[in-house]
Amino acid sequence: MKPSFTKHSLLAAAVAALISVPAFAWNEGGGEQDEALHLTPDPENGIDIYEVCSACHLPEGWGLPDGTFPQLAGQHRGVLIKQLADIRALNRDNPTMYPFALPESIGDAQALADVVAYIEKLPMNPEPGRGPWAEGTAEFEKGKKLYADNCVKCHGETGMGDKEKFYPRINGQHYNYMLRQFEWIRDGKRRNANPDMVAQIKGFSDDDMKHVISYVSHVPVPADQLAPSADWQNPDFK
Ligand code: HEC
Ligand code: HEC
Repeated sequence: MKPSFTKHSLLAAAVAALISVPAFAWNEGGGEQDEALHLTPDPENGIDIYEVCSACHLPEGWGLPDGTFPQLAGQHRGVLIKQLADIRALNRDNPTMYPFALPESIGDAQALADVVAYIEKLPMNPEPGRGPWAEGTAEFEKGKKLYADNCVKCHGETGMGDKEKFYPRINGQHYNYMLRQFEWIRDGKRRNANPDMVAQIKGFSDDDMKHVISYVSHVPVPADQLAPSADWQNPDFK
């Protein structure tokens, strides 16, 4: 009977640790993230693992233009690894995907390295979900100005992010997905968000948010990173 006492104390300690988790937990490495980043990937094994992911993110890695599932194709490897490690560590809530992302389902840090090496090379959807205001409108110009003043320093002029710093590329991402993430980051719901981004956007109204995200969704992706057409199908999964 002795072990049950020990188990209870451990449980109490674990619960206390969970409760004391800070509202924003952004880290630039450590743990599984670091491990996966430094492993040599096996993209063939990545294809096998990606089959699980394709159920939601589609065989092409394009997600859905309505934003339910994000586009993963073309995202920086380090960003994908960070997000996966955060999701597995319950540092970013994703109840839909969580069971499929666990080590029991797909494997350890090597599996993360393998699957992201595959995803990173997929060509992107040339027709992602876009916001309401195209170039030539006053709303587009407003979004462009907000972007230049608040986002360029991290996500770059063309929305390419920064792979060394784990800043995601956001060009080519679906409007509704970005809107949801931006709101969650602003309001503290996406716990793994970079605190500097949270500080930068805390004064954004919902209206500002729509303008800046609509603008981002109209920023073009370099042609050589796009699939030849929106009908393209991933030959690895035919
Ligand atoms: C059951 C559906 C489902 C499956 C299966 C699934 N995902 Fe996801 N995934 C989602 C959803 C939904 C989101 C976005 C959640 C949100 O809005 O925060 C997401 C988000 C992500 C993100 C974050 C993207 C970003 O831009 O930050 C990554 C990376 C990711 N998934 C990778 C994977 C990989 C790799 C697999 C396979 C091992 C996988 N997913 C399997 C539903 C799924
Ligand atoms: C200080 C750097 C910084 C600034 C400034 C910043 N961001 Fe971010 N942004 C990040 C980082 C880092 C992440 C990923 C956070 C994480 O690890 O979960 C992110 C995530 C995002 C995401 C979610 C992407 C995804 O794939 O899930 C969107 C959308 C976004 N930023 C848009 C913006 C916009 C628009 C602005 C300007 C109004 C902005 N950001 C300003 C660093 C920044």
